[in-house]
Amino acid sequence: MIPTIPPGIERILFTEEQIDARIRELAAEISARYAGRPLKLIGVLKGSIFFLTALARYIETPIKIDFLAISSFSNKSGSPGVVRIAKDLDESIEGEDVLLVEDIVDTGFTLRYLLQTLAGRAPNSLSVCTFLDRNSRRIVQVPVDFRCFEIPDRFVVGYGLDHNQLYRNLSFVAVMKP
Ligand code: IMP
Ligand code: MG
Repeated sequence: MIPTIPPGIERILFTEEQIDARIRELAAEISARYAGRPLKLIGVLKGSIFFLTALARYIETPIKIDFLAISSFSNKSGSPGVVRIAKDLDESIEGEDVLLVEDIVDTGFTLRYLLQTLAGRAPNSLSVCTFLDRNSRRIVQVPVDFRCFEIPDRFVVGYGLDHNQLYRNLSFVAVMKP
């Protein structure tokens, strides 16, 4: 199906079909890794919800789902990295196998904060699955266990990712016009 491309979009990076095919592959990897053990998916609101729900439907191990939301600020010198939890998980993760599901890992500040926070709650294991990875902009080193796509150094929207809260519902991932 040829999607309608809104103004503001430069080009499509990944089509709905490409995304679906890659998510199936990733789900198979995850299913093999956990091999029937129950897994808790933790989605970081709001960007990860489209990816998380698509992924969860293809994973063949028992799944629980919980969400948290974060807000990030720039400090006075304008550098990123100040992150806090705006909405916490509903349930404990103690003793559970946890897979943190992110929309995109960019500088790595958000992920580092989330991993430190969640590791302190004694899960049995804690791994990371991200929809997009922009490794070229990484400032802090963070472990990424599963990734759907590596992307170039351009701002992208769609499939959960927003620009001023818009474009999340696009069925594809696209590069914004500069
Ligand atoms: P990090 O802390 O720099 O890794 O930031 C990651 C967060 O920044 C993501 O969870 C997104 O919310 C946001 N972000 C980074 N790059 C993009 C992008 O290209 N489009 C939309 N949101 C982005
Ligand atoms: Mg995010």
